[in-house]
Amino acid sequence: MTVQVTQPTHLLDLAVGHPAPDLLPTDLIRPLAVEQEYLAYGQQAGADAFRQKLSAWLTEDYSQPVSAEELLVTNGSSNALDMICSHLSQPGATILVEDPSYFIALKLFKARGFEVIALPMDEEGIQPAALEQAIETYHPAFIYTIPTFHNPTGITQTHQRRQALVKLAKDHHCPLIADEVYQSLYFGDKPPAPLACYDRSAPVISIGSFSKILAPGLRLGWIQGNGELFRRLKNSALLQSGGGLAPVTSALVGGLLANGEFQKNLSYLRQTYAARSEVLCAELVSVFGGQLQFHQPDGGYFLWASFTDGRDLASSRQQAQQAGVNYLPGNFCSANDRFHSSMRLCFAWYGEKELAAACKRLGNVFA
Ligand SMILES: Cc1ncc(COP(=O)(O)O)c(C=O)c1O
Repeated sequence: MTVQVTQPTHLLDLAVGHPAPDLLPTDLIRPLAVEQEYLAYGQQAGADAFRQKLSAWLTEDYSQPVSAEELLVTNGSSNALDMICSHLSQPGATILVEDPSYFIALKLFKARGFEVIALPMDEEGIQPAALEQAIETYHPAFIYTIPTFHNPTGITQTHQRRQALVKLAKDHHCPLIADEVYQSLYFGDKPPAPLACYDRSAPVISIGSFSKILAPGLRLGWIQGNGELFRRLKNSALLQSGGGLAPVTSALVGGLLANGEFQKNLSYLRQTYAARSEVLCAELVSVFGGQLQFHQPDGGYFLWASFTDGRDLASSRQQAQQAGVNYLPGNFCSANDRFHSSMRLCFAWYGEKELAAACKRLGNVFA
C-alpha cells in the first residue's frame, strides 16, 4: 500500500500536490468530540446541522448566497467526481476536459470508460468557441473544468468566461462539472464565485473539498448544485443504503466552522502558501532568468513553468531525480500528449528553504 504522506528526505519532490505535514491541524482536531447522533446512519445529503454551518461559511467566502439545500456532503472531491461518473457513464460516452487538466481526474474518467476529448485553454480558461463546437460534435456526457487556480496551470477563469461556459451548458443541456478545490485558497483578491452560483437553472455542479484548506485525511467535501443531476446524486442507492457520507468527520469540522478556528487556520494557510509561492517564483527567476516562463500564482498549490527552447521534460525527469529534485512533467496532464516543455511545481508541500534548494537543483540540471 502506498502511504501518501511520507516526506522524502533525499529528494525534493515538487510533483506532490499535498499540504505539508506540519500544516495539518492536529491541535485543532485533537480536542474535538462527537455526539452519539453522529454515530448513527446520517441524513442522505449530510447532517443538516453541518450543511447549515457549511452554507454560512461558503456564503461569506464566495460573497454569494449558498443554501444548505444545495449542498451534498461527500468524501472529498475525488469521491464526488467518481459519484458523478457513475451516474453519467454509458457505453461509448465522451466527456470534454481542459488541456491540460488534473492528471488523476483524467485517469478516473478513463477508468470509468469515458472517451476524453481535451480542449485548448487560453489565459482566461477553456475557450468558449472550441467548447461550443465540441459540444455540437461529441454530445458529451459532461464537461469537466477547474475554474479557479487551475491544476496544473494556476489559471483562474474570468467572470465573463464563467458566464459564457454556464450559458453554453444551459443552452445545450450539457452538465458542467466544476472542480473548485482551490477556490478558497486565494492570496489576494477573491476569485469570481464558483460556477454553480452563476445560474441556478443551468445544469452546473460545483465540487468543493476540505482537503486543501484543512486536511485531506478528513476525506470531506461537498457538491453544490440544483436540478436533475444533483437530485439523482442525492437520491442515489449509495446514500439510501449507507446514509449520508462522513457523518463523524463533518460533525468535527462543523465544530471548527462554528467556533471560527477553521477560518483562522485558513487565513494562516493562505499567508503561508502565498509566501512559499513568492519564494519559488523569485528563485526560479534568479536561477533561470528568461529561459523559463511562468505566471506568479494568485492562489492554489501550483506553478506551471515552461521552457522556451522546446526541451522535453518528461525524458529529463530521471536526470533531475538523480540530482535530487522532482517535478510533474506537463504531458502527464494532457490527454493530447502536449506540454512536453512544461512542468507543474507544487509550492504547498515544502517550506521556503527547501523550495529554494529545489530550484538550485533544477538549475544544476537545466540552466
Ligand atoms: C483539481 C483537483 N481535484 C481534486 C483533487 C483531490 O481532492 P480530494 O482530496 O478532495 O479528493 C485534487 C488534489 O490534488 C485536485 O487538484
